[in-house]
Amino acid sequence: MDIGLVLNTLRDPAGVPFYPIVFQALYILTWALHIAFVLLALGGIPLALIGNAKKSIDDNWKKLGAHMTQVAKISVSILIVLGVAPLLFTQVIYDANWYVTNTISGLWVVAFIYILILAYSLWYWFYYANKNNSPIAGLVGVVSLLAFVGAGVLMHAFANESIQPEQWMNWYAPNGVIDTSGTNLHIDILRLAFMVSLSAPVTGIFLLNYVDYTSKCDGYTATYLSFVKNLGKKIATVGLLVSAVLFAVWVLTLNMLMNPLVIAIVVAVLVLLFMVIKESNSYITTLVLVVTALLISTLREVIRMNIMSKYGYSIYDYPMNIDWPTVIMFLTTFVGVGFTAVGFMLTMAWRAGRTKGIYTADATVTKLANATVGITIIWALIFLLWGIITVFKNTL
Ligand code: HEM
Repeated sequence: MDIGLVLNTLRDPAGVPFYPIVFQALYILTWALHIAFVLLALGGIPLALIGNAKKSIDDNWKKLGAHMTQVAKISVSILIVLGVAPLLFTQVIYDANWYVTNTISGLWVVAFIYILILAYSLWYWFYYANKNNSPIAGLVGVVSLLAFVGAGVLMHAFANESIQPEQWMNWYAPNGVIDTSGTNLHIDILRLAFMVSLSAPVTGIFLLNYVDYTSKCDGYTATYLSFVKNLGKKIATVGLLVSAVLFAVWVLTLNMLMNPLVIAIVVAVLVLLFMVIKESNSYITTLVLVVTALLISTLREVIRMNIMSKYGYSIYDYPMNIDWPTVIMFLTTFVGVGFTAVGFMLTMAWRAGRTKGIYTADATVTKLANATVGITIIWALIFLLWGIITVFKNTL
């Protein structure tokens, strides 16, 4: 079978609506955001569970556990929203890869949705059970964690299968017999372990941010803050070391140890380690973490591009059919609605968290709130009008 011919034939004959490199850059950016919240959720849940187990004997753990329960809850909702973006971008430029995976692992793709619903519902159950001191809270929380990890394993398997076109035929029709069960599941344990291990440094550095932020809020004693700071430092340091080792072994199996991007990631990890040990400003440490996440996201894409180029598939020569209305609608939504609304929510949350008693919005937040409502109404009107005009133009 000529794999390159198959891959190129499976491309969307309508072409892509804008320059492929833009979709690629957006994929790299949005996947980094997705995984950041995945890692915070996966790292926050164990801390919440420990908090639950120790709450009757340790007030520090009791408080931290309650806060991490909320952090994990919110992270899951953000990771789901942010997961949609890279999913759309990958489907535009690597459509064949994603759809083949969804065929050979169809049963797991459907199961993924139910596993995620189960995991998230159990987390809410844990939240209420913990609040009411129910004896089964811990058990419910552990099952929720296992389900979240299961969802991550599935996501990883889909990504891993999608970059092995040479195996697709074997998986689809082993020994020439078509297998329509959709039960294929192929993981790369090193890549998966590395990805999941990153939850430790991400959560550790988040705890350092938490200390810097809450140190200016009411109700946080110096003892509690130093407890969280020490814990965050420990988790981040051990996590960075473990992730670095797993990363080195993984890239070694890919023969990429000397790749400039790999070296840049190693340097970034060393800088992070230094900053965590030196107790540098945690917000600056987080900026370095964001750069590291973007480098890792870029490396995933370089690995995929290298594999695909072996088969003569390059996203850069994907047929293009620029569709300006779509592009303008997308960019104005992304920048106009997205940036204003996110800016408003973040500014409000930041300030409200530091206010004693009831929070009243100041002039900036009020302006941002009005702008968000105004822009969203205008956006909705344009969206509906545009759709209605298009439907009438095409049918009448
Ligand atoms: C708790 C739930 C989830 C976890 C733990 C999780 C975890 C992961 C992990 C570990 C990867 C990296 C896989 C690898 O490169 O080997 C990944 C990739 C990805 N995830 Fe998630 N994920 C979750 C939910 C979601 C959801 C709900 C969506 C979409 C709405 C999503 C979309 C994606 C996409 C598009 C990729 C990249 C796939 C590719 O490059 O081929 N994820 N996820």
